[in-house]
Parts: sequence; structure tokens; C-alpha cells
Amino acid sequence: MPRGPEGFCLWLTGLPSAGKTTIGKVLVERLTERGRFAELLDGDEIRRGLSADLGFDRASREAHAGRVAFVAKLLARNGAIPIVALISPYRSSRARARAEIGRFVEVYVDTPLEVCERRDVKGLYRRARAGEIREMTGIDDPYEAPEHPEIVVDAVRLSPAESAASILAALERTGLLPGAH
Ligand SMILES: Nc1ncnc2c1ncn2[C@@H]1O[C@H](COP(=O)(O)OP(=O)(O)OP(=O)(O)O)[C@@H](O)[C@H]1O
Ligand SMILES: [Mg+2]
Repeated sequence: MPRGPEGFCLWLTGLPSAGKTTIGKVLVERLTERGRFAELLDGDEIRRGLSADLGFDRASREAHAGRVAFVAKLLARNGAIPIVALISPYRSSRARARAEIGRFVEVYVDTPLEVCERRDVKGLYRRARAGEIREMTGIDDPYEAPEHPEIVVDAVRLSPAESAASILAALERTGLLPGAH
């Protein structure tokens, strides 16, 4: 049987409300148009299913990232492109995911805290500031920004479509995707 294209994982990390889900959805559309099987592994969605038993303490967040990495590994080794949209605040969890998955592209959705807090898609920053919830990443829980991500997107200056386009262009430059003609 002829072999299809190799899969790889796009791992989008960033603060809550940075734009990971929004950009991830655009990436799925663009990659599907190119004939690839792309699947969005969204942290929130997976927390409603596979990780429904987990909270937001450090051990839970690491376990959550580990489960997502496992699913991403299965997809990537079967020619698909899992697009992970997960805060994944710890460098150590992301390093473990990288080691497990192998073909791993870390994308830092770089949106400063003050912009994320203004966006506050789910109202969580407001609730954290009001003391109604705890362990909110960026407020009373750490976010360890990537030190050497393969790709950084400035999700303030770039629209979601532009961010997705810049990610695809970077993948073409590194040869993970063939150039679009
Ligand atoms: N340039 C931009 N890039 C991405 N998102 C933007 C941009 N400008 C505004 N937004 C808006 O910011 C919000 C980003 O929310 P999104 O749910 O994608 O964040 P997230 O990183 O997935 O957060 P969470 O970790 O809480 O799931 C969306 O409402 C999106 O429309
Ligand atoms: Mg999201």
C-alpha cells in the first residue's frame, strides 16, 4: 500500500483567552482544504470527556496534558495532524509531550495577560480577580512561556486567519507541509 503523508502534532500553548481554540479551528479548516486529516484536540472539550475526573491542581494539569499527548501521538503516527489547543502551562508537561509524540511543533500563542484579560472569553479572569475561583492560570497559577518554541504567533497584531497562515507558512519552510501552489 502506498504510504500517505507523515503526521505530526501542532501543540498550541498560551494563556487562557490567548486564541488557541480560535486559531486551531482555522488551522483545521485550512489543512482539511489541503486534503489532510486534522483533528482539534481542545483542552476544554477533552476535560468534558477523557479528563472529566481532573481538576486544576498541578498534578491534574500534568495528567490532562499527558492524556492529550497520548491521543495526539496515536493520531500523528497514523498520518493525521492533531492540533492541540491546551493552556499546558508547564514546560515539563510540554517537554514530555514532545518526547512522547516525536514529530512535535510547539506553537506559542503569544498574547499578553492584559489582552487575554480584556478578552476574557469565559469570564474566568473576572471571577478569579473577584476571588470566586482559584488556580487561574496567569492570576494565581503559573504560566511558563516556551523558551524555544518552533513557532510564535503574535495573536494581537495578527488576526486568527493571519496567525493560521503564518503557522502554515512556517510548516512549509521546515518541510513538514508541501508548499501550496
Ligand atoms: N488576533 C486574534 N487572534 C486570536 N483570537 C482573537 C484575536 N482577536 C480577538 N480574538 C478573540 O479572542 C478570543 C480567544 O479565545 P479562545 O477561546 O480562542 O482562547 P483560548 O486560547 O482557546 O482560551 P482557553 O485557554 O481559555 O480555552 C476569541 O473570542 C477570539 O475571537
Ligand atoms: Mg480554548
